[in-house]
Amino acid sequence: MKTLLTIVGLLILSLAYADEGQDLYNKTCVACHTIGKGRLVGPDLINITEQRSQEWLVAFIKSSQTLIKSGDAEAVAIFEEYNRMPMPDNDFTDAQTLAVIDYIKRTSAGTGASGETAAAPDMLSEATNENIASGALLFSGEKRLTNGGSACNACHNVADESSFSNGTLAKDLTASWKNMGSAGVAAIIKSPPFPLMTVAYQNHPVTEAEVLDLTAYLKSVNENSLKQTSESYNMAMAIFGIAAFLAIMIFIMIFYPQRKPSRVTA
Ligand code: HEC
Ligand code: HEC
Repeated sequence: MKTLLTIVGLLILSLAYADEGQDLYNKTCVACHTIGKGRLVGPDLINITEQRSQEWLVAFIKSSQTLIKSGDAEAVAIFEEYNRMPMPDNDFTDAQTLAVIDYIKRTSAGTGASGETAAAPDMLSEATNENIASGALLFSGEKRLTNGGSACNACHNVADESSFSNGTLAKDLTASWKNMGSAGVAAIIKSPPFPLMTVAYQNHPVTEAEVLDLTAYLKSVNENSLKQTSESYNMAMAIFGIAAFLAIMIFIMIFYPQRKPSRVTA
């Protein structure tokens, strides 16, 4: 009886432990990683426990920047590979960090709990121009966020001529959608891993519908900026064509009169 109770107790304990790992993972890591669904903002973490030692993983997850600054070759290499995009620090205990690592290990082996919600590649498949327009108004603050959070352009800028976005406290978001995809952008808006942005929204969460509108807007900003550069490229080609044509005309005009007399005398 006593052994049975111990076994049940251990089972419950291990379940609680498992859930903590999954919980922390879903709250803090899904914004940037998948386990087996490909690269997002950061690398796919599938089988990472086979590639890195446990001490290394614990140190990296708690404070990747500390490890990188200490000169650890593996950490520096992966940081360079991801264009020096810093992964945010995590204020976890050792037990919490190990629970997250254990969750990644179990999910890699296909035995993780089924709650892993990574990369939904076509969350914008139903998005319309109305979503984009609404996202633009939310971004610039012309329309207030439901829960009263600050407008994105308090800190961010985007290349959108129709918007007076001028935030310079944080990164320009024109290229973000291209770099991290819809799932990455949406996850960052939902649970921002950057201290300044976390503070701005922790008591004013952005609603699901607003996340979708803003993501659709950032996607369209990115696509329009690409179109603008290709338009200006076409324009440059046209100007080059006209210039070349004029050069040929001038060339002919200079040399034609010299040939004329010779034809007359012939
Ligand atoms: C804001 C995005 C972001 C968040 C949130 C994030 N990471 Fe990362 N992670 C990265 C990036 C980017 C890299 C690549 C290394 C670098 O740039 O420093 C990385 C690298 C890693 C690596 C090293 C992978 C390798 O190939 O060695 C591990 C392990 C990791 N992350 C685990 C986690 C865990 C666990 C969490 C949640 C507690 C988490 N990350 C949250 C962006 C993020
Ligand atoms: C209080 C300032 C602040 C506000 C307001 C804010 N952010 Fe951020 N955001 C940041 C900071 C800081 C970063 C980290 C990157 C950096 O250092 O510039 C960031 C990063 C991001 C990134 C990742 C960018 C990339 O390419 O790496 C996205 C996407 C983003 N924010 C979207 C938004 C959206 C959408 C809103 C409006 C709902 C918003 N942010 C509001 C401060 C803010």
